[in-house]
Amino acid sequence: MPERPHLPVRVRLTLWYVLLSGLLLGAFGLFQYLQTRQALLESVDTALEVAVSQALGSVDMENGAPAFQVTEQFPLASRLMLQSDFAVRLLRVDGREVERLGDATFPADAPLQTGFVTLGQGEEAWRVYTRPVLDTQGRTQGWIQAAQSLEAVNQTLARLATRFLLTLPLALLLMGVIGVFLADRALRPIDRITRTAATISAGTLTRRIGYQGPDDELGRLAHTFDQMLDRLEDFFRREQRFVSDAAHELRTPLTVLKGQMEVTLARPRKPSEYQRVLQSLLEQVDRLIRLSNALLFLSRADQQQVDWQPARVNLSDVLAAILEQLQPLADERRLTVQAELPPVLPAWGDPDYLTRLFLNVLDNAIKYTPEGGLIQVQAERSAAALQVRIHNSGPGLPPETLRHLFDRFYRADASRDRTAGGAGLGLAIAREIVLLHKGDIRAESAPGKGVTFFITLPVPDDE
Ligand SMILES: Nc1ncnc2c1ncn2[C@@H]1O[C@H](COP(=O)(O)OP(=O)(O)OP(=O)(O)O)[C@@H](O)[C@H]1O
Ligand SMILES: [Mg+2]
Repeated sequence: MPERPHLPVRVRLTLWYVLLSGLLLGAFGLFQYLQTRQALLESVDTALEVAVSQALGSVDMENGAPAFQVTEQFPLASRLMLQSDFAVRLLRVDGREVERLGDATFPADAPLQTGFVTLGQGEEAWRVYTRPVLDTQGRTQGWIQAAQSLEAVNQTLARLATRFLLTLPLALLLMGVIGVFLADRALRPIDRITRTAATISAGTLTRRIGYQGPDDELGRLAHTFDQMLDRLEDFFRREQRFVSDAAHELRTPLTVLKGQMEVTLARPRKPSEYQRVLQSLLEQVDRLIRLSNALLFLSRADQQQVDWQPARVNLSDVLAAILEQLQPLADERRLTVQAELPPVLPAWGDPDYLTRLFLNVLDNAIKYTPEGGLIQVQAERSAAALQVRIHNSGPGLPPETLRHLFDRFYRADASRDRTAGGAGLGLAIAREIVLLHKGDIRAESAPGKGVTFFITLPVPDDE
């Protein structure tokens, strides 16, 4: 479908403004015109009425036939003579004219009927007022008609209309200028937003609109836009750090691998030596595979593309299996593991991911508890969720460390943990798994009191 060409909002706003004010002005002008016409016609009618009543007072019934008696009480006569557009005439009952005062172009076809009529068109128009001449018995003896030419009135009205029609375009032009000004003022912040947005790319994500105006629609738009940029920038930074940390983490074992291979290849060796080196290389490669699996999981989690199959899981079974698997490591470090778990602990989740979650937390507990220490695993159920508490003895962690515990690649003491072989991803993965299950994970610690992890998970719906 071809796109309809769009006028810029600025132009559309101005056009609407001009159109509406034009309509308004037009309506107002028309109203004014009709009002003036009405007022002028009313004044003409009043003059006609006065003239007819005065003339009636001067009519004399000579031998039963009416005639004007021009006396000094007939001020009309002299006045009418001076006015070219005014006339009064006296008629007999049969319509024959007896006498006429004033303008000779009196419309002859005025009907003999009490009241006002308008005759003729435009410049030739006349307003006529007719009244019967009655004798003492109230019988009609003749008619009096007064007429005024509407030429002057029509000329005045025409002038009014011309003046209005001449000023209308000027007024509309002025409205257009004002409209452009107003639209421009209203839309300027949008232009600024557009320009800023256009300059933003990955390298300039720090840029903001920084709108200073009032908190109106545009202010909110600019503010929302800035907030969106904050989030994007934050996300982008984390992403960048993740990538460079990951690259760094991969490089170290690869460098070690390369070094070992070079040294081994430097001279011929006995088969047993090759075997020993290959064994060590295998361990490094295993570590690399674990690391890339962890990275893959985290990046899938970021894109919300983790493929998981939640089901009803007996968490007691899961925990028991993990504890059994870790027991040799605990024994090696002379750690006491106490688990207080009910036989059945129903949870809702993916068994593989839940295993990974608790394995990561318990693996840490075994790695970071000082030798001869204690690890406790407890579980508690409420109506809507279950909580697993994993506590280990030790010196505890400072608040600063606790804050970053779940960050990717975070290690509380890098030099120490490097030997333990951790990449600092275990808890980050644990947190992603918990979030996937819409649960919660947090850690508490106090000096000398060790560390406690609280993991909350949903229970199956039918429980
Ligand atoms: N139970 C604990 N007691 C004391 N410190 C802990 C405990 N659990 C984690 N930490 C600290 O938190 C850091 C982050 O743990 P995390 O499991 O994310 O990484 P890691 O164990 O170093 O490496 P990875 O788990 O990827 O092999 C650890 O390096 C450790 O310093
Ligand atoms: Mg760990």
